[in-house]
Amino acid sequence: MKEKLFELTAEQLKEIAVALQEKVNIGLEKDGEELACIPTYICPKTDGIAGKALVLDLGGTNYRAAVIELGKDGKADLHPDNGWKKDLCIMKTPGFTQEQLFKEQADLIDEICDEPMPIGYCFSYPAASQPDGDAKLIRWTKGVDIKEMVGQPVGTPLMNYLNSLNRIHYTGVKVINDTVASLFAGLTHPGYDAYIGLIVGTGTNMAAFIPAEKIGKIAGTYTAGGLLPVNFESGNFVPPYLTPVDDEVDHRSINAGNQRFEKAVSGMYLGEILKATFPEAKFEEPFDARKLTGMLSYPDVYKTEYVDAARAIYKRSAQLVAASLAGLINLLATQKPGIKTVCLTAEGSLFWSEDKNGKKYHEMVLEYLHNTLTDLGHSQIKVDITQMDNANLIGSAIAALS
Ligand code: GLC
Repeated sequence: MKEKLFELTAEQLKEIAVALQEKVNIGLEKDGEELACIPTYICPKTDGIAGKALVLDLGGTNYRAAVIELGKDGKADLHPDNGWKKDLCIMKTPGFTQEQLFKEQADLIDEICDEPMPIGYCFSYPAASQPDGDAKLIRWTKGVDIKEMVGQPVGTPLMNYLNSLNRIHYTGVKVINDTVASLFAGLTHPGYDAYIGLIVGTGTNMAAFIPAEKIGKIAGTYTAGGLLPVNFESGNFVPPYLTPVDDEVDHRSINAGNQRFEKAVSGMYLGEILKATFPEAKFEEPFDARKLTGMLSYPDVYKTEYVDAARAIYKRSAQLVAASLAGLINLLATQKPGIKTVCLTAEGSLFWSEDKNGKKYHEMVLEYLHNTLTDLGHSQIKVDITQMDNANLIGSAIAALS
């Protein structure tokens, strides 16, 4: 019966969509609001850029490094023998330092790059984009807490560190959020009326292009006009209809009060929700979203009530993602009436996960998104979800070479 706690009606999903839209509007007007709505001062070029970039991707769990070559035809080539990935959960250890992080990052680059080139750095934490393409860390999320890095630029110190090792001299660095990298990667599919970058992995967040004149908080400081990529930091949204179990998960986390949407949706927290639902039960540690989806696909060894609750938590996560997308699309449709097609580039292991005995996560997102858009009067809007291999790496190369 506990699974009933996580049910959301169509009407509630619509309310969540509208609440997200209102909070995006507030965040576009003022700094320091619930949704940070961070404009990124990098305008991606889709043609006429060519060359190689070193791309670094620091996510919530893994770190990746590779060299990407963009051809004049807009095609991206990931040099096959030189892409590396490692688990960097160690950065969540209390007391972990910037120097240790740089060292871990440099270790992976050692063998993949043999000539000077710019760096595209996909940094998956809230960071305020600077006019020179670097970004200053606003705060950590997803369990990381390297205190000395908060408020500081994240790109230039890392590049200086790499250059000080005297191997290759990197020529510049552009820092973008992972949602913005996905957004840029989506541009390799031209012809859509609107583009969205979405991540549902360890954390969750969205980005889209917003006309500069609609971003009230930069009026006067940014006058170039045009469309700016905006990282909404939607993981910090406080949606209506969270439950006492969500309050408990928040209470137990290292950043209580923050990232409430993320704590109801993303991979890092789904297992925590199940544990808080059955405080008396013993689950394997750590119990993350991968274990939770495993439980759905292979339920025989678990109590039925745990499996039912896990399935309800998984479904609610997809519904919340759908509602937040519907709110964002509703906003984009207000800014640009007549939108009919949206290209959604989505990354993250939870987004592409499946329940072998139920619906796939991304199929549920599409279904509830269509229903909520219809309830908002947009049944004509068609959303295509694109899954691109290495979207973050390609988007970061576009940023580095634009
Ligand atoms: C967290 C971060 C955000 C990132 C998201 C997905 O919400 O704050 O910057 O985009 O995780 O990785």
